[in-house]
Amino acid sequence: MTSQVRGVQLARLLGQWHALPGRRRSPDYAALAGAVRGLLADGRLPLGVRLPAERELAEALKISRTTVTAAYRELRESGHLASRRGAGSWTMLPGTHRVASTGLWTPLDDRDMIDLGVAALAAPPELLPAARAAAEDLPRYLGGAGYHPTGIIELREAVAHAYTDRGLPTSPDQIMVTNGTQHALDLVLRLALAPGGHVLVEAPSYPNALAALAARRARITTHGLAVEEPGWDADLLLGGLRQARPKLAYLIPDFQNPTGHLMPAALRERVVATAHAVGTDLVVDESFVDLPLDGTVLPPPTASFDRHSRVITIGGMSKPFWGGLRIGWVRASAPQVQRLAAARVGVDMASPVLDQLVAVHLLADAPAIVAARRAQLTAQRDALLAALAQRLPEWRVTVPHGGVTLWAELDGPISSALARAAEEVGVRLAPGPRFGLDGTLERFLRLPFTLPAADLVEAVGRIAAVRYDLDRGGRSQWREPAVIA
Ligand SMILES: Cc1ncc(COP(=O)(O)O)c(C=O)c1O
Repeated sequence: MTSQVRGVQLARLLGQWHALPGRRRSPDYAALAGAVRGLLADGRLPLGVRLPAERELAEALKISRTTVTAAYRELRESGHLASRRGAGSWTMLPGTHRVASTGLWTPLDDRDMIDLGVAALAAPPELLPAARAAAEDLPRYLGGAGYHPTGIIELREAVAHAYTDRGLPTSPDQIMVTNGTQHALDLVLRLALAPGGHVLVEAPSYPNALAALAARRARITTHGLAVEEPGWDADLLLGGLRQARPKLAYLIPDFQNPTGHLMPAALRERVVATAHAVGTDLVVDESFVDLPLDGTVLPPPTASFDRHSRVITIGGMSKPFWGGLRIGWVRASAPQVQRLAAARVGVDMASPVLDQLVAVHLLADAPAIVAARRAQLTAQRDALLAALAQRLPEWRVTVPHGGVTLWAELDGPISSALARAAEEVGVRLAPGPRFGLDGTLERFLRLPFTLPAADLVEAVGRIAAVRYDLDRGGRSQWREPAVIA
């Protein structure tokens, strides 16, 4: 079923459309068409949704119907709208705007490159002692075959304990250990989504989650996030779930990647209730939940509002500890965990015992390690914000109060061009379209603050220099960013 945006909803998204820059020179219909194009380009208005009937939008905007008719005509002519008589008009992008939006980033071994394509910290100093202690523990496991499809009991207990501490009572048989959060997502999708199934995701969202969905040939509906807090629009998100009734929704409510937004408790509760009412399973990615900054108090876990096993939570060690560990997990009902474990034997059998033991030691030390990570991230974020304010003051950023990334709104649809130019001066960037579908989000750039402050400041200086060159038309031999297509 096609989703539809109502007149009042579109009017709210359009905001002050009649006061856009350059407005004085263009008639009302052209300004309206331009504002709709802007929403599409930013991913706030999804592709393939039915726009309100002309009369309905005219009423919502308190303008004449002829203005809306002319605006829709212009949008059809520019390739942003497809109409069928009697059936309505659907949003689209002109064919030339489409670019590949998924694909894995391959950090190259280029020592001089400042890599802002990857949003993850280097290992903490506690990692090596934890690895040594894990090696000491290993003999306890060597008498067995070493296959533990749901994970070793010590780690499942530690992870369950951490959920319980957060106010979400959890037993070890509700936990399955995986090889990272990405693996957890892939396994959950194998279990919960038939090929071609319908999924709702945020726009922007985490590129490798989009890649996992593409691998399932998922049909995707998007919910566009605003730059400003809280990011999610309750009316549109819940309306989208009710209309599209997707099989599954993939959300990152805790310091969303890339925007850094934190979903308020009341919306979590309503999303879970609505998902249950329409038969949607929620996959909640908690990759960044351990990293609130500025004393931010976390809302209750999304799964704490779940009474019907609708919410599957995934998380892992990569963001608070180290990505190289490749340890993540799924929290679900015990029967779901059993089904996941059964599915897993056809994939990778089990996670390495030694790495799980390292994770056990790190989790035992979690309060101290994570406190140091937060202090480090706060200092690095502040250095990045200060450098941006100084060197690129036209860019708009909402200060993230957690996670490891900020989502900058640029001064034009230049994100991919900027990423290509930055690569030439030794800065790898993940441009906006990587985080969306169909080539939207060109006015945005994700900037992680996981590198040392000096590198971030240097990177911003180089980005500002190439930004200036873009305006002056100075183009070097641009290469594609490093991706596996
Ligand atoms: C939202 C989100 N989910 C999953 C992952 C993958 O995490 P892992 O290294 O645990 O597989 C990341 C890593 O950046 C992420 O940002």
